[in-house]
Amino acid sequence: MNIAIINGPNLNLLGKREPEIYGSETFELYFKKLQQKFPEHHLTYYQSNIEGELIDKLHEVGFAVDGVILNAAAYTHTSVGIGDAVKAISSPVIEVHISNVHAREDFRAHSFVAPHAHGIIIGMGLQGYDLAVTSFISPH
Ligand code: DQA
Repeated sequence: MNIAIINGPNLNLLGKREPEIYGSETFELYFKKLQQKFPEHHLTYYQSNIEGELIDKLHEVGFAVDGVILNAAAYTHTSVGIGDAVKAISSPVIEVHISNVHAREDFRAHSFVAPHAHGIIIGMGLQGYDLAVTSFISPH
């Protein structure tokens, strides 16, 4: 299977950013382990801090791959454009959040992605990406 992981703003700082919330592992290291765990599948990883670049990437991969794993980070709560892009593409999208957004500030409870997502994984740490890959590989 071809699966694209897309991370939004500030997630390039994983490992350094608020480790009490997001953990101390970099995404690059975690992604290598993920690739090793699923060697028979093709996983790609893209990160941007720029809303339009995330939309462009969704358009690029979203008619080609078997699944998209999207953590739009703060844009989840603000971006009609990213929500519309998720609705527009044909590949199924699993929305992932590392932290439990429902246990944090109220504004994090709203997602423009969620209505168009195939599924949502929240608050499981980086393991959420692993669970998303597993769910694409072994659908219920
Ligand atoms: C996040 C949660 C968002 O509210 C926040 O803006 C992020 C990361 C998460 O993975 O927990 O940057 O998407």
